Amino acid sequence: MVSGDRISFFENRNNQIVLDSTLFPCRDGVLCCENISLVSLAEEYGTPLFVTSRNSLLNQYRRFEDAFAGLQHFTCYSVKANFNVHVIRTLAEEGCGCDVNSGGELYRALQARVDPGKIIMAGVGKSQADIEYAIASGILLLKAESLSELRLIDMIAGRLGRKVSVGIRVNPNVTAETHPYITTGDSKEKFGIEEADLGNVFDVLRQLEHVELNCLDMHIGSQIFDAGFYHAALEMLLDVLATARSAGFDIRYFDIGGGFPVTYDPQKPATPIEHFAEKLIPQLETAGATIIFEPGRFLTANSTILLTRVLYRKHNHAGKEFVIVDAGMTDLIRPALYQSHHEILAVRQQDETIVADIVGPVCESGDFFARERTVDSVGEGDLLAVLSAGAYSAVMSSNYNGRLRPAEVMVDGETAKLIRRRDTYEQLIQNEME
Ligand SMILES: Cc1ncc(COP(=O)(O)O)c(C=O)c1O
Repeated sequence: MVSGDRISFFENRNNQIVLDSTLFPCRDGVLCCENISLVSLAEEYGTPLFVTSRNSLLNQYRRFEDAFAGLQHFTCYSVKANFNVHVIRTLAEEGCGCDVNSGGELYRALQARVDPGKIIMAGVGKSQADIEYAIASGILLLKAESLSELRLIDMIAGRLGRKVSVGIRVNPNVTAETHPYITTGDSKEKFGIEEADLGNVFDVLRQLEHVELNCLDMHIGSQIFDAGFYHAALEMLLDVLATARSAGFDIRYFDIGGGFPVTYDPQKPATPIEHFAEKLIPQLETAGATIIFEPGRFLTANSTILLTRVLYRKHNHAGKEFVIVDAGMTDLIRPALYQSHHEILAVRQQDETIVADIVGPVCESGDFFARERTVDSVGEGDLLAVLSAGAYSAVMSSNYNGRLRPAEVMVDGETAKLIRRRDTYEQLIQNEME
């Protein structure tokens, strides 16, 4: 179909709220990342390819810091959103700390040269090895999610001759309205310790010699649009803070987790971070502690696109149109896992649109990026950009179907740097060789 009144993507204000059009501009009809055309990046590095704008990452971090500038706080990037060493380093060089969830993420943060004194560790099921590694590395805080874990941290700290700062993740029993797989503050979920158990936890903590409680923590979920959910959970956490202090604990850190939203779908624009700051700062100030934030998605999601090439087009007798691309659910599983929406644009501006399913090569019906979507009319060999591919995307990639995980590049102005090489066939079997 020819859409005479269709506005081309770079003029389309809807897409501009997903992509920052100053950092992903369209020049001569071709979508670029900063000053490099995506066509030339595809030629040089191949597809599928994750392309990150370094300045977009920095802008998001600075925007977050500006929003909460009035508050005594410390921002720890939640590495799980995008654990590429170069992404972590870009943020750390700006002064950001890190929130890690495992020994593997801690290793990545340390390799990115993050100061251990700026690293905190969360995780509902930390292993003994994770805990030993964290203590031996001298990280700022370990946040425990059960009494057994606190006892294990105490035991390991004693063995290593250390006294360790710990936090307790409290489950505030608030159900944030988001996808059920990413709501984490509800008592039905595995996360944190319930308020009713805290008295006992405080009693035990008083007897443990190698841990010192100085942080209370929560994380109620991800992609939360309504500041009211934070507000409700914080009310409860502030009560716990008062109880902990009156029980003699020196609570210096008050960690409210991550969860701040981004726009994936132009029809559902995210609540601006400034709104969260305006609503939450007055309440957070009453804590009289350093507030820790753990944003992941907010910092990374819209700084990266997944560049993919159309392999084939076909249609069936039921009238369905398929665009088969070389990226799949093994590279970006979010549509399959969370039914999430990603905008998809042709890299070369098109005048026509089609209604099609954009699907990958993996042998699963769930391997799609969009269904029945009006997209630019692309032909075989053309390039598409799947937007918002910077958080929970490359980190969740896999080798299922013998697929090679994509390369990643980071663009800074006129310069592109390969920040992850594409997997090779040899790597697929290296751990299986004798
Ligand atoms: C404990 C914790 N902190 C921070 C985050 C980051 O969340 P988001 O990417 O939504 O900011 C998560 C995500 O699951 C988390 O589990």
